[in-house]
Amino acid sequence: MTEYNICVMAGDGIGAEIMEQGLKVLKFIEDRNDVTFNLMHGAFGATAWLETGKSFPEETIKMCDKADAILTGTIGLSHDESKKIPIDEQPERGALLPMRKRYDTFANFRPVYLPPSLSHFSPLKPEIIGDGIDIMIIRELVGGIYFGDKEVGVNAKGLRYVREILEYDEFLIKRTVDVAFETAMKRGKKLHNIHKSNVLKSSILWTDIIDETAQDYPDVEVQHMLVDAAATALCLNPGQFDVMVMENMFGDILSDQAGGILGSLGLMPSACIGPEKAYYEPSHGSAPDIAGKNIANPYSMIGSVAMMLDMSFNMHDEAASLWKAMESVFADGFSTPDLSKPGGDITMVSTGEFGDRVVAALG
Ligand code: NAD
Ligand code: IPM
Ligand code: MN
Repeated sequence: MTEYNICVMAGDGIGAEIMEQGLKVLKFIEDRNDVTFNLMHGAFGATAWLETGKSFPEETIKMCDKADAILTGTIGLSHDESKKIPIDEQPERGALLPMRKRYDTFANFRPVYLPPSLSHFSPLKPEIIGDGIDIMIIRELVGGIYFGDKEVGVNAKGLRYVREILEYDEFLIKRTVDVAFETAMKRGKKLHNIHKSNVLKSSILWTDIIDETAQDYPDVEVQHMLVDAAATALCLNPGQFDVMVMENMFGDILSDQAGGILGSLGLMPSACIGPEKAYYEPSHGSAPDIAGKNIANPYSMIGSVAMMLDMSFNMHDEAASLWKAMESVFADGFSTPDLSKPGGDITMVSTGEFGDRVVAALG
C-alpha cells in the first residue's frame, strides 16, 4: 500500500465548494487503488487571517512541510473586503506568494484545453477554433517583479512614489526554460517564447537563454513573440500555439486571457512544481461574486487533482481517466452556469452535481 500525505487548503470564496468536489473524486480514486491519501486540512487565506491573525499560519506551514503534495483552493476577498486586512497579510501577499517562495515552485503549468466537441463553450468563432484549443502555458512563478524589492514613500518633491524591482538571474530563467523545452519535446515540439525585449532588458536576457538552450533541442521549433502581440494572437489564431513560456507577470495575465478564450476561468487548473515540492491549484481566484451559491465550475479544481495524480504520484492512468470523465460530463450536455448560455441546449448543474457526475463517469 502506497501512502501520500496531502495538505489540503480550501481557502476563501468558492475555494471550499470546489475543493469538496476535488476531494470527492480523490476519495473515489483512493478506494479503487492500492493507495492511501492522508489529508491534513490547513487554514489558508483570509479565512485563516480571521481565525488566527495570519493568512499562512505556522500550523499550516508545518503541514505543508510534511506533505508530499499540496492542494489549494482559492484565496482572496473582494476589492472592498480586502481593505479590511493589513496590506502585507492580505492573502495574496501574506499566504500565496510566501508559499510559492518557501517551496520554490518555479514551474507553473497552466493547460489551456478545449477539445473540438466542446468548442461551443468558447466565445471564439468555430472557424477560428478549428481543431480545438490545446496549449500549455509555462509561467515562471517565483521571480520577476512579484518578488523584487519594493519601496513606497514620499520623494524629495513631496510626491508619493513607489519602486518595484523586476529581477531575474540566469539560473532562475534557465530552469524554467529547460522545463519548457522538455515539455515541448513531449508535445508538438513547438515553443513560443513570449517576451518584451523591445523594451525590457529582463526580456533580452530571457530570450538569450532561450536561444542558447535551443541549441540543445534542435527538434524544437522556437518562435519569439512579443507579449502584446501574443495577447491578440491568442484571440485570432490560438491554434498556432503549443507550448508558451514566459516570465511571471506576463504569465499571470495571458493565462487569464487563455481562460477567456475557453469560455470560463473555471476551465483553468494548474500545477506549480518546485525542486522538492509541488502544489496544485486552479489558475483563477476566489470568485467572490458567485461564492456560496453552489454554482462555481469545479473543473479547475478537479483538473488540479488530476495534475497532482499525474505529476506528484505517477498515477498517470487515473489522471487520464479523470480528464476523460470530466469531458464526458460536458459531452453529455451538462455544465455549471458559467458555460451554459441561456436558451442553449445545455443542462445547468450545480457545483456539487457536477462533482457527482464526474464520480459517476469515473465508475
Ligand atoms: P476571479 O478569478 O476570482 O474571478 C473572475 C471572474 O471569473 C468572476 O466573474 C468569477 O465569477 C469567474 N470565475 C472564476 N472562477 C470560476 C469558476 N471556477 N467557475 C465559474 N466562474 C468562475 O478574479 P477576481 O474576481 O479578479 O479576484 C477575486 C479574488 O481572487 C481577489 O482577491 C484575487 O486577488 C484573488 N485571486 C486568487 C487567486 C488564487 O487563489 N490563486 C488567483 C487569482 C485571483
Ligand atoms: C494567479 C493569481 C495570483 C498571481 C495572485 C492571487 C497573487 O492571480 O495565480 O494567477 O498573480 O500569481
Ligand atoms: Mn492570476
